[in-house]
Amino acid sequence: MILNGDDPDVLAAPVPVAVVGAGAMGSGIAQIAAQAGHDVHLVDAVDGAARAARERLHATLSRLAGKGKISAEDAAATASRLHVAPTVRALPQVGLVIEAAVEDLTVKQALFAELEARQDAAVLATNTSSLDTSAIASGLHRPDRVIGLHFFNPPPLMRLVEVIHGPHNATEAGGALLDAASELMRRWGKTPVRCTSTPGFIVNRVARPFYGEAQRMVGAGEIDPATLDLAMRDAGFRMGPMELTDLIGQDVNLAVGTSVWEQTGRDPRYEPTDYQRDLVSAGRLGRKSGAGVFTYDDAGVAQNAHADVSRAATITAADAPLAGNPVARTLAMLVNEAVDLVARDEATAEDVDTAMRLGTNYPKGPFEWGREIGFATIADQLTDLDRRYPGGRYRPSPALRDAG
Ligand SMILES: NC(=O)c1ccc[n+]([C@@H]2O[C@H](COP(=O)([O-])OP(=O)(O)OC[C@H]3O[C@@H](n4cnc5c(N)ncnc54)[C@H](O)[C@@H]3O)[C@@H](O)[C@H]2O)c1
Repeated sequence: MILNGDDPDVLAAPVPVAVVGAGAMGSGIAQIAAQAGHDVHLVDAVDGAARAARERLHATLSRLAGKGKISAEDAAATASRLHVAPTVRALPQVGLVIEAAVEDLTVKQALFAELEARQDAAVLATNTSSLDTSAIASGLHRPDRVIGLHFFNPPPLMRLVEVIHGPHNATEAGGALLDAASELMRRWGKTPVRCTSTPGFIVNRVARPFYGEAQRMVGAGEIDPATLDLAMRDAGFRMGPMELTDLIGQDVNLAVGTSVWEQTGRDPRYEPTDYQRDLVSAGRLGRKSGAGVFTYDDAGVAQNAHADVSRAATITAADAPLAGNPVARTLAMLVNEAVDLVARDEATAEDVDTAMRLGTNYPKGPFEWGREIGFATIADQLTDLDRRYPGGRYRPSPALRDAG
C-alpha cells in the first residue's frame, strides 16, 4: 500500500471511495466520483440523510440524461455505483475517503481517528475549507495518510480542487500520495493546484481584498455600492464585490474573512470591516434575507442599485487618483497577496493564477495582472496607500520588488 511506499499507484485503479457527510459538498463529490467510475459509499451522522442524498443524486442523473448531457446507460450505471452505509464503522474497506462533514475541528479529529482505525489502506482526505489539515491529522499514528482535497461549490460544476498538504505530509510516502491524489483529480476532470495548509489556502486567502477594499471604500462614503460594482464589472470581473457578497451571504463571507484574520494572528491585512459587521448584526445577510448591501424584491431584483455610469468611468481612468479608484486598489492588493503567498513557498505562481481564475472566475490571474501593471508600480501604489491609511493593511510584500 502507498503508505509503505510499496504501491504509489494505489489511486490509479477505480478504487472504492467513501464520502463522509452527505450534505451539499459530500453529495456533489459523491456524484463526481461515481461518474468517474468509482463505487461510492455515502455515510452521514443524521439518520436517513445519506439515503436522501442518494435519491437526490438519482434524480440529478435522470435529469442530466433527460437533457442529453449524459447517456441513459451512463446515468443508470452511475446510479448503481452509489451506495449508502449506516455508519462509518459499517463502511467497507476503500481506497479513498473524502470527509465532508461539519466544519468543526473536534468532530473531524474524532472522525479521522475512527477512519484510521477502521480503514487499513485508504487515503484519508478532508474537504475542510478553513481548518489546518495538520491539526486534523495530529492525533493519528500515520498523519501522512491525511491530505486536503478542497472542492468548490457546486463540486460537479467547479473544476478547481486545492490539494492541501502540511508538515505532516513530509514523508516519502506522503509526497507520493499527494502526486497520486492530484493525478486522480485530473482523471475526475478537475484541475488540481497544490497549496500548503496556510489559512484560507489559495482562493479564500488571495480573494480577501476583493471584498475588503470595496467595503472600506463604501463604508467610508467614498463611493456608492452600485457604482463600485459597475466599475469592477467594467474591469472584467463577472460580479462586483457588493452584489457577490449579497449572493454568497454577508454572514458566510464575514465568517471566512474572520477565520483567516484569526488564524493569521489578526494580521491587519485581513481585518473584517465594520461595514460588513454592521450589515450582519442588522440581519442584512444578502439575497437570502431579502436585503444586504442592496434590497431585493420578491423576484430577487435589487431595488437600490443605481450606478452612476460616468462616475464609474472617471474614477477608473488612467490618471484618476489611486485612493478613489476601486479597481487599481483591489488589483494592487490582490497581486500583493499572491506574491506574498508564493514568496512564503505556500504555492507556485502558476497554481495561484489557475486557482483564482477557476475558483473565483477572475478574468485574469494575479500574476498576469502583476506583469501587466508592473510589480514595481504596484509596490509604489501600496506604499502610497500605506502612507495614507497607516496600520499595516497596505504594507507591500518585500517580494513585490523582486517579482516578475
Ligand atoms: N459549502 C461550501 O461552499 C463548501 C465549499 C468547500 C468546502 N466546504 C466544506 O465541506 C464540509 C461540508 O460542508 P457542506 O456545505 O456540505 O455542509 P452541509 O451542512 O451541507 O453538510 C454536512 C453534512 O455532514 C453531516 N455530518 C455532520 N457531522 C458528521 C459526522 N460526525 N459524521 C458524518 N456526517 C456528519 C451533516 O449531517 C450534514 O449532512 C465542511 O467542512 C465545509 O467547510 C464547504
